[in-house]
Amino acid sequence: MKDPKRYMVTSALPYANGPLHIGHIAGAMLPADIYVRYLRAAGEDVVWICGSDEHGAAITLRAKKEGVTPKEIVDRYHSLMSSTFENFGISFDVYDRTSSPEHHENAQEFFLNLLEKGSFEVKTEKQYFDVEANQFLADRYIIGTCPKCGHDHAYGDQCENCGSALSPNDLIDPRSVLSGSKPELRETSLWYLPMGDHEEWLKSYIEEGTLNGEQQHDVKAWKKHVIGQCKSWIDSGLQSRAMTRDLDWGVQVPVEGADGKVLYVWLDAPIGYITATKRWAEQNNTDWKPYWQEKDTQLIHFIGKDNIVFHCLIFPILLKEHGDYILPYNVPANEFMNLEGDKISTSRNWAVWLHEYLEDFPDKQDEMRYVLCSIMPEQKDSEFTWNDYKDRVNNELADILGNFVNRAVVLTHKYYDGIVPAPNEFTKVDLELIKVIEETPKKVAQLLKSYRFREAQLEAMNLARAGNKYMTEEEPWKLAKTDPERVKTIIHLCLQVTANLPIVLNPFLPFTSKKIAGALGTVHEDWNAASTTLLEVGTAIEKTPILFVKVDDATVEAQMAKLEASKAQAAEKEVEPVKESIDFDQFTGMDLRIGEITAAERIPKTKKLLKLSVKTGVDERTVVSGIAEHYSPEEVIGKKVTMLLNLAPRKIKGVESQGMVLMSEDAQGNLSFVSPEKGGKAGDTVR
Ligand code: 2FM
Ligand code: ZN
Repeated sequence: MKDPKRYMVTSALPYANGPLHIGHIAGAMLPADIYVRYLRAAGEDVVWICGSDEHGAAITLRAKKEGVTPKEIVDRYHSLMSSTFENFGISFDVYDRTSSPEHHENAQEFFLNLLEKGSFEVKTEKQYFDVEANQFLADRYIIGTCPKCGHDHAYGDQCENCGSALSPNDLIDPRSVLSGSKPELRETSLWYLPMGDHEEWLKSYIEEGTLNGEQQHDVKAWKKHVIGQCKSWIDSGLQSRAMTRDLDWGVQVPVEGADGKVLYVWLDAPIGYITATKRWAEQNNTDWKPYWQEKDTQLIHFIGKDNIVFHCLIFPILLKEHGDYILPYNVPANEFMNLEGDKISTSRNWAVWLHEYLEDFPDKQDEMRYVLCSIMPEQKDSEFTWNDYKDRVNNELADILGNFVNRAVVLTHKYYDGIVPAPNEFTKVDLELIKVIEETPKKVAQLLKSYRFREAQLEAMNLARAGNKYMTEEEPWKLAKTDPERVKTIIHLCLQVTANLPIVLNPFLPFTSKKIAGALGTVHEDWNAASTTLLEVGTAIEKTPILFVKVDDATVEAQMAKLEASKAQAAEKEVEPVKESIDFDQFTGMDLRIGEITAAERIPKTKKLLKLSVKTGVDERTVVSGIAEHYSPEEVIGKKVTMLLNLAPRKIKGVESQGMVLMSEDAQGNLSFVSPEKGGKAGDTVR
């Protein structure tokens, strides 16, 4: 592929519904920051935008939980997120927000353009409606049992247990998240995007990188898991997707008579990328259009894997339908980062919050950036642990990079009053080190251009490693008395390594790079300046500050204790509220009895489901129960349990479940049978 003229880089707009954690950064922002810092240093024309995603159920549900307006939520978190990004050295060209009037207007204009082109289909159909809350229920407003895996907390748009895309009408036993009540069906009109109509061209765009026979991108440069996910969506047939919602928070549908209807958040949010670019262009007195509309632009979306379908299928359809836009050149999605053996979770407060990290570790942005880049989930999920953080900071940043730079600068002051000495003739080892100085920027650049950030950082650090090894083996301190001319060459070369480090490390460690370059009086933001003679002989250099302080065990323990404490606090807060009163007749209407489990087996291709045979005193029946992650089939046989006998039968994974086995569940989701305390036998009543 030809080299592009410019780059348009985006990072997924985070929902403004909570503080930022390391998972956000490691997924969509840090890789983009590294990439863009490199491109800028290489003299490329690049714009990198991001902003807060301020619509959708993520916002309104948070507002409801806190008893405040959605506006209060987005204002609070937009401001916290912008300052956290800035403090962490995330160098967006603009950090915008989707609640701005400019964005509403832009998204409406885009919608109308597509509407005029006939890109949508209007359908009038029955949707779930919560009478108590007076609201239609879609996406995260409605939960129920997943028809694919039996998970009982599947959302109206997706089951997080099995990853299936769902629509509210697919859910078994749907319940409103707002009131807990069973919703009723009511008629409404929605604008749908008939994705099925686009299957053919999407297939060649994803699988071959072509559009109308023209090469758009290099498929080999796409991550396998990204292509894999898209292919499996396309192969299972693309369903029409509603592009509007009956809600009062969001971008109004700009059509007469569409009061109370807003654009689907996944329609307006990616258009937010364009709005943000327009804002940037306005601030910089330039034109935004080439960045989105010229074929010699590379459009690159940095996202987490849960956003793949939106960026690789839905947004490209919207862009193509509009007609004026280019399509994404690459979507280097990252997988997920876990934390200390568990999934990062905002609601369970299992996260390292970035603003808290910056308070607990002031001026240690680079330490976290370094660790997150080292374990970036590029090809598979990865895991952050505080012990690993400590090891990487101590053994790599402090012992290799910090130690090397410090020794080079201190020895220059000790032997030459801080003046760069002239070298003598180079030996074989010197020439080998010179080769490393020459090769490193090329290798790092190549890896960065292929979105291989972990390897790129490793390669950049290898320059420090090579310098450190060279100094340790050449032992200038031993030669100072016997061979002062040789020492000059050694120190000279160590200083050239030191001067090149801030250039190749700047994308990863911008704060440290600035400090080193500052002391040497060299540049750190010009990739093309890298050279083996970067530091001129005779230059006076300053002393560098201590670059990295080692992390001790007490710090690790304190962070671990903090995590555990905040998780426990969140669990306490999670006690479910008391449900609405029911009358005695409603209670006695439930036929509750003791049952005895006589047989159990796993339901194939599910993680959670067991098929149980239960003796009830009146009969022996089959019950499907979502307990397979808590009990093995062997251990449940013979157990006496409480059963709801007269629950209407329903089919789960093709098996008819005739009743329900009751379980107690704690805040962490641990399940346990509710068994009679003193023996009891099958058929005993429970009241
Ligand atoms: O998944 C999320 O957090 C979304 N807020 C990402 C939006 S990306 C974009 F398209 F704006
Ligand atoms: Zn499922």
